[in-house]
This record gives sequence, C-alpha cells and structure tokens, in this order.
Amino acid sequence: MCGIVGYIGPKSVDSVLLVGLTRLEYRGYDSAGVAVVHNGELQIRKERGKIKDLEELLQSHPVEGHMGIGHTRWATHGEPNRRNAHPHSDSKRRIAVAHNGIIENHYELREELKREGHVFQSDTDTEVIPHLVEEELKKGVDIEEAVYLAIRKLRGRYAFVLVYEGTPERIFFARDGSPLVFGSGKGETFLASDLPAIIPAAKEHYIIENEEWGWITRDRLHLFNGDRREKTVALEKITMDVKDLDKGGFEHFMLKEIFEQPGVLRRIIQERLGDNSGKVSISEKASEMQKLSRLSRIIITSAGTSWHAALVGKLYFERFAKISTEVDLSSEFRYRNPIAEGDTKVVAISQSGETADTIASIYEAKAKFLRVLSFVNNTSSTIARESDAFVDLLAGPEIGVASTKAYTAQLLNLLLYSAFLGGVKWILDKDERQQLFDEVRRLPDQMDQILERADVIKEWAKDFKETKDFVFLGRSFNHPTALEGALKLKEVSYIHASGYAGGEFKHGPIALITDQVPVVCIAPQGDIYEKMLSNIEEVRARKGIIISIHTEGDETVPSLSDYSFPIPACSEVLSPLLAVVPLQLLAYYVAVERGCEPDQPRNLAKSVTVE
Ligand code: G6P
Repeated sequence: MCGIVGYIGPKSVDSVLLVGLTRLEYRGYDSAGVAVVHNGELQIRKERGKIKDLEELLQSHPVEGHMGIGHTRWATHGEPNRRNAHPHSDSKRRIAVAHNGIIENHYELREELKREGHVFQSDTDTEVIPHLVEEELKKGVDIEEAVYLAIRKLRGRYAFVLVYEGTPERIFFARDGSPLVFGSGKGETFLASDLPAIIPAAKEHYIIENEEWGWITRDRLHLFNGDRREKTVALEKITMDVKDLDKGGFEHFMLKEIFEQPGVLRRIIQERLGDNSGKVSISEKASEMQKLSRLSRIIITSAGTSWHAALVGKLYFERFAKISTEVDLSSEFRYRNPIAEGDTKVVAISQSGETADTIASIYEAKAKFLRVLSFVNNTSSTIARESDAFVDLLAGPEIGVASTKAYTAQLLNLLLYSAFLGGVKWILDKDERQQLFDEVRRLPDQMDQILERADVIKEWAKDFKETKDFVFLGRSFNHPTALEGALKLKEVSYIHASGYAGGEFKHGPIALITDQVPVVCIAPQGDIYEKMLSNIEEVRARKGIIISIHTEGDETVPSLSDYSFPIPACSEVLSPLLAVVPLQLLAYYVAVERGCEPDQPRNLAKSVTVE
C-alpha cells in the first residue's frame, strides 16, 4: 500500500531509487515518482502506471544528483493519475514529500492552509504535508522545527520522507503507523518501507518506531521522539539475502512461489520437528507453558488469504487441542466488541505483518488485556513487534501479490502449534503426535509430486480463457480451500469466482449452475468424501462442468468429472495443504492464458496498510 524510499550517497540517485521502487512495487503500482535535490534545486518526475513507465520518463527527462526520495502508489485519495502521483510539493516547489498511509484530518488542514493562500495541485491527503512545512517556514522557524511542528498537526497512519531545497544531503522522515526502515551502507544511507528495497547495499538497519521522526545524512540517522529528545540508535545487521528477491528463472514470482512450497514445508519441518523428539519446537515466548495449559479460548483475527488459513487453524485448534476457537475478519473484529473472558488468547495471522486492519485488531485485543500471539512471515513487522509473542512462518520473502507459499506455511505452522498445544494440555499423547508428525514429514515430497504434474493444469487453463464464472465447493477442512481457490482465481484472472461449503450449495449457489459454469469440487478421501460425491452429482444433474481434486487411486470421482486432478493420499486434516496447490496453479495458468499480469493484479496491493 504505497512504497517509499530515500537515498543519500555517492551513486546516481535515480538508479538507486528505481531499484528500490521496483522492489517495493508489490505495495502498489498505480503511479510512481521521484524527487531529487541537486545543486540547491528540486527536480520532480512522476508518471501514472508502473515503475517501468517512470523509468522511461527518466530516460527522456533525466534527473541528476545524489540525494532523493521515491514513491510507488496504491491510490487511496484521488484518481491514479500523474497529478496525484507522489512526491507532492509545496506552493513554491521547494519541498517534496513521498508518503504511505492516510492523513485523516487532511480536509480540515487543507481548508486552513487554503485560507493562508496555499494553492493545491492534487486531490491527495499527502499534499497537506509539504504545505504545512512551508507554512511553518514562512513563520521564520528553521526546517527541523518546521517539520516537527507539521508532524504535530497530522492525524492518521503515516510514514513519509521529505526533501527540501535548502538542505542538501538531508532527508527528513516521520512515522506513525506505517512501516519505515533506516539502512546504512558504505558511505550511503537509505530510508524505505521495507528492507528488500535497500539490500544488498545497506548492511545494517534500524526499524523506525511509531512517533519517531528525524533526518538522515550521508553517514547517519538522527532520530528523535515525539518530545524532540534525540535517541541513540542501535543498528542491527541485515540478514535478508538478495537472491530471494529475483524470479529464479520463473516467468513470474507467483509461479516461483508456488513451486517453492515443498522447500518451505521442509524448512518448517526441520525447524519445528527437526530433533525427532516428538515435540514441536516453538519460540520460547510463544510457548509459555503454564499459561497455555489453562488456555480455554482462542480468537483468530486476519484478512484475505490469511483469513482462510485462520478458518483451517480453527479446525486444528479444536481438533488437536480442544480449545474453542472463533475466527474474525480483522476488519470486523472491533465492531463486535469481542468479549474478553476466561483464559482467552488472540491469534493474529499475517504474511506481511503490516495489514492495517489486523494491526487495529491487535490494539483492540490489547485494550481488553488479551494476550496476542501472531503468525507472521515478516518478523520485523509491526504485527510481530506489537504482539506479545510471534511464530515465524518461515516462508521466505513472498513477492507475488497473490499469497501462495505463505498460505501453506501458515497452515503447517498452525497445525504444528495446535499439536504443541494439544501436548501441553494432555489432549494429544506422544504416539498420536508422532503419527501426525510422520504424516507431516511426507508432505513436501507429496507436494513435489503435485507440482511435477503442473502441465496438466496448464493445458486445462486454455479451456477456461473465456469463462465468466467459477464455483468452488469443499467441506470441513477443505471448505477454506474452496474459498482460497476462488479468491486466487478472482485476484489474478479477474474471473468471477465464489467458494462455498458443499452443504450450503443447495441453499442458493446451485441456481448459478449452467453448462457454462465450471465447479471445482475438492473431494479427497475422508469423512466428507461421500457428501462431496453428492455435490458432484448435483452439479452433473444440472450439466455444470466438473473439475475435481481427488485422492490418488480413487476412480469414482474422476469417472464423474470433466477434469480431475489427483493428490497423494494423506489424512483429511493435512489435505488442505495439498489440495490448494492445483488451485493455485489453475488461477495462475488461467490468468496467464487471459493475458493478465499475475504478479501485479489490477487494483490490488500485497501489503494493505490502510484500514
Ligand atoms: C492483501 C493481499 C492478500 C493478503 C491480505 C492479507 O489483500 O493482496 O494476498 O492475503 O492482504 O495480508 P497479510 O499480509 O495480513 O497476510
């Protein structure tokens, strides 16, 4: 949800900013821009569209210099056009600002500033920031004071970077709610929304906290708190590897990440079950034994794909630890004023760790004195830091906007954590755990077998190029798989798709079925198998096109299907981890067939940092 970057150093600033912005493009790609100060002059270039459009503009209209800021936008206020592209400037074009987040009181600030004679060029909330700083400067204060006074007038969630013609070699910044990281390299410094934008040049980093502000110079970070007291900064080494940020020979990140899943599962298994003791290794803080043995209720809060993982997580917590579990969409959590009674834990699930609604639900939980455990892929994220403890998903950087490997990593970590709780609460004995873990250890190879047959689905995709609607059906552990399969397809191919619990099908969705509608039926062997057969028959009777996901060796489901894809035999509880993979491939290949851009679907952003 908007990416920002700032650089001071010996390199040509435009190339550094373009690399950084490209790595942040997962946060939004409606427009992009840079502002550079060189020889006391501010130069701004911005363009509608993606970073490559900005790059073309910079070729025809180059900028020169060694200090500047950049922005890639996911539009909140104002159309995604060039006028609304960041950076935004003040009336005299001496100050430029790139911002991520929302300034909630921008209407009233804008009116006040207009009364003082400021003329606005865009429809954005951001533009009030350079005008506010300009207004303070007019009163005769210096730039540090002006930035500080401007920040004090802002309400909302934000991170911004600011350059000013009058201060070469200084980039100002402030954070309250949206992520911002400082990076330090050899004779150069950086600011960015996320670490991938600044590696490998930045070797050490500091995560800017809420209400901190200050400026960077070529050699250091000058950091202040809300009372203007300077803070000492302890830099940490950056361990992220730049190799994880390229496509590794795949056409798209989405496909690469789908294929990375067996490796991710192996990593989680090694980390959590590696010592073969029959115990799950979970970070110390996440495993405070005494309290956990009394735990009687879990509320899971999350959004998007992470919400689907939560739905599976509920079934795991209830099955393996006998803990009553509720699942909330994080955007809805606070509206129902959740009851904080008994020994309740809130579990937040998030790939990015920066989803604004999920962060808000954590604050809501903490206000009710509930303890929060998060499952996050980005362990330096706001969610990881605001939670009492976190479990690292260990999926590695996920760049494709549609989440794939983080989802299966969420499922496996939730499964293992629920087995861990089951052990703590004496629900699962050692043999039962061992049996489950033996099966878990087979998952990566089983997933490899599915991926070896990816070309089957690639072929199918040709038949669905013109399809208008899809329906996905699943039950029990695979009801969330149906929801996730439908979401994936919608996200990347723009085909309308809905997922339903098989049992609900006859209560409405069945009215959608014609001979033009493919119905994906997730029907592995297990308790729900026969019920799913009934669903398949219901679709057949109405001439719907049946695409089935079934257990290898089963002949009945394929005989009733138009398209069928086998997954290796596994227990029903583990089947969501395998059954989702062909659905991810289906979404990907259909998107490619339709000429869509699966890594950057229209209107979406990977990290949704506004509520
Ligand atoms: C966005 C992304 C989804 C993701 C959701 C929740 O909508 O496009 O892929 O599932 O946010 O994100 P989180 O990072 O909290 O898991």
